[in-house]
Amino acid sequence: MVQKVEIVIDGKSVELPVLEASEGLNVIDVRGIIKEGLFTFDPGFLSTASCESNVTYIDGDNGILLYRGYAIDQLAEGSSHMEVCYLLLNGELPDESQLSQFTKDINDRMPVDEHFQHIFDGFTKNSHPMSMVCAAIAGLASLQHDSLDISDPAYRKEAALQLIAKIPTIAAMAYKKSIGEEFIAPDSSLTYAENFLHMCFGKKGEQPNVSSTLSAAMDRIFILHADHEQNASTSTVRMAGSTECNPFAAIAAGTAALWGPSHGGANEAVLDMLVEIGDESNIEEYVAKAKDKEDPFKLMGFGHRVYKNFDPRATVMQSSAHAVLEEQGASEDPLLKIAQKLETIAREQDYFIDRNLYPNIDFYSGITLKAMGIPTTMFTVIFTLGRMPGWITHWDEMIAAPFKIARPRQLYLGEHKRDYVSIDNR
Ligand code: CMC
Repeated sequence: MVQKVEIVIDGKSVELPVLEASEGLNVIDVRGIIKEGLFTFDPGFLSTASCESNVTYIDGDNGILLYRGYAIDQLAEGSSHMEVCYLLLNGELPDESQLSQFTKDINDRMPVDEHFQHIFDGFTKNSHPMSMVCAAIAGLASLQHDSLDISDPAYRKEAALQLIAKIPTIAAMAYKKSIGEEFIAPDSSLTYAENFLHMCFGKKGEQPNVSSTLSAAMDRIFILHADHEQNASTSTVRMAGSTECNPFAAIAAGTAALWGPSHGGANEAVLDMLVEIGDESNIEEYVAKAKDKEDPFKLMGFGHRVYKNFDPRATVMQSSAHAVLEEQGASEDPLLKIAQKLETIAREQDYFIDRNLYPNIDFYSGITLKAMGIPTTMFTVIFTLGRMPGWITHWDEMIAAPFKIARPRQLYLGEHKRDYVSIDNR
């Protein structure tokens, strides 16, 4: 393996060490280069590792995603979201008693205080649920601020439990607010995914009645979204957290970053596209537009920037999507009929086969959530819910080790120093 690289700066040879990764590409350590009077330039971090991490590994060429070394398809088939949360936070899978204690710890912390619920009074029914969720997550800091000492592992663990436990309650409250219904309290006899669905779709005073197909699909959506290494929102959590702000503030920053259509909003874009296509008879026209180099239109939910072979999450999500569509009688829904036809076309036509343009996770999670009756404005909220253990694990990993405040440099291209001119002389 390469141990070091050598660069020549104005005739002077400078050696840079190469750090060895346990999986994937090694990295050139450029930290010493500033002594030579230069910075490195890498907008968008396309060639830059911003941190060391032990949490998640992605090999996009071979369709591999590992949480703490375990393949996503095995976790999605065999585990539960509670187990995955424990795994991400602690680095190892729990035994039975550890899992049952962890589940109890989460259940105990799911309810939110009555006075905290008033945070939603400041929003109208038409407010986007993500704005309510961002505000409520930041608001949790007010409940914990005095006691929170981020240098103490026990406090960091408590913050992680609070965030994972309260996000389904907050997400469901945002939904209930948006449809003008009363909030439903969590029920500790339910699983994490059942509880979320009960708090969304249950009615006050009624016994929980959650379909096992829907809760299994929702649990799988949470597992598949739980972490994706240094994506934009996770990097935002790390960057905000590097200022030593409280974890609720750091996670609120990450939540806001997730809101963008280039990140957490892609499954919403799939549904918008299906609405635009409108009818099965228009599919051929839209497929032709997608293939036309002169037309900017792309089939939303197809292709991936990192996964160039297949998205291992999409493969797993596909079976859940089909199960939910069947149970919900989705063959009657015109949008989902369009989705099913598009899926077939992408698997049969050379254009898509030659370019490895298979349906991605957003395609399947979008149509699954739609078939469950969840409005598109809630899609990113559900992504937030799923990603919570990943964010808090990365925050904890950073705080537990020596770290520096994140402070990128810039390539300055502005004016040289010049004198101020008073307004009458301009
Ligand atoms: N529909 C039609 N053609 C496509 C599509 C598409 N969705 N995606 C890529 N292509 C074509 C592209 O035109 C190019 O054709 P050619 O080789 O003839 O020039 C070829 O496929 C390679 O595409 P690319 O643009 O080099 O691929 P990329 O890695 O730059 O883009 C992508 C990846 C995800 C941005 C793109 O596939 C896309 O815009 N997809 C639709 C949006 C979408 O579903 N985004 C969610 C991705 S998953 C997010 C997550 O993991 O969180």
